[in-house]
Amino acid sequence: MTGSLLQTRNLSLTRANGDKVLQGVSLDIAQGERVGLIGPNGAGKTTLMLCLTGVIRATAGEVRLDGAPVAPGGFHPGMGFVFQQADDQLFSPTVAEDVAFGARNLGLSGAALDAAVTAALDRVGIAALADRPVHHLSGGEKRLACLAGVLVMSPRLLLLDEPSAALDLRNRRRLIELLGGMDQAMLLASHDLELVLELCPRVILIDDGRIVADGVAEAILGDAALMARHGQEVPHSLTHHAKVAHGHGRLVV
Ligand SMILES: Nc1ncnc2c1ncn2[C@@H]1O[C@H](COP(=O)(O)OP(=O)(O)O)[C@@H](O)[C@H]1O
Ligand SMILES: [Mg+2]
Repeated sequence: MTGSLLQTRNLSLTRANGDKVLQGVSLDIAQGERVGLIGPNGAGKTTLMLCLTGVIRATAGEVRLDGAPVAPGGFHPGMGFVFQQADDQLFSPTVAEDVAFGARNLGLSGAALDAAVTAALDRVGIAALADRPVHHLSGGEKRLACLAGVLVMSPRLLLLDEPSAALDLRNRRRLIELLGGMDQAMLLASHDLELVLELCPRVILIDDGRIVADGVAEAILGDAALMARHGQEVPHSLTHHAKVAHGHGRLVV
């Protein structure tokens, strides 16, 4: 497919106990495209992201980034995965050292490494926290540190697993503005459908390990019957407020 950055064909994962966690997932993400990944708990969103980044091995199918197969267990700096639990991702004594880890894996050292770390911390607005121990960060700061830790590798695709979970309104808004200003392609798994609507022109809905809808965000998120079938609700900003208008007795349609 022209312009395809990430491509999967018939990606499936069956666990040893026979559970079919992913079932024939085929998707393409273009350069710079932002895609929301929605679906009920247990639908397979996190597992799909782990397979896409080669953290776990699918039992069938393939993943390609820029046409090259993504080998499970390999180092894939083209993709940056921000885990749902920041504590699963941060492991160095300080913020700066944590961010430096990825850049060092790319072969950077000395002044170039320092510059890359500073630029990544600046990008997410936490340069002042560089020397802070990671366990002395708030939840929102941890999420930003994780983001800096993947941005330092200049990935072309960001995978974000529930990025707004546990963020207060101010940090959520900051994150939306930050992500909205990036030109990387993104796959963003979230139950925060308003965030998905703001950031992602395209949405993929998965249930029971299968893609059940893939298309324009407003069309999928606004389809009440489809959403209800898969345990979702149409987000508030896509519902009509006719009742409020009636209440004022001035409805003119
Ligand atoms: N490490 C694991 N071992 C066994 N089953 C798992 C593991 N992680 C997730 N699962 C199961 O895989 C399915 C998909 O989970 P997950 O990808 O986490 O869904 P989602 O992110 O959409 O909530 C669920 O049935 C879940 O219970
Ligand atoms: Mg999940």
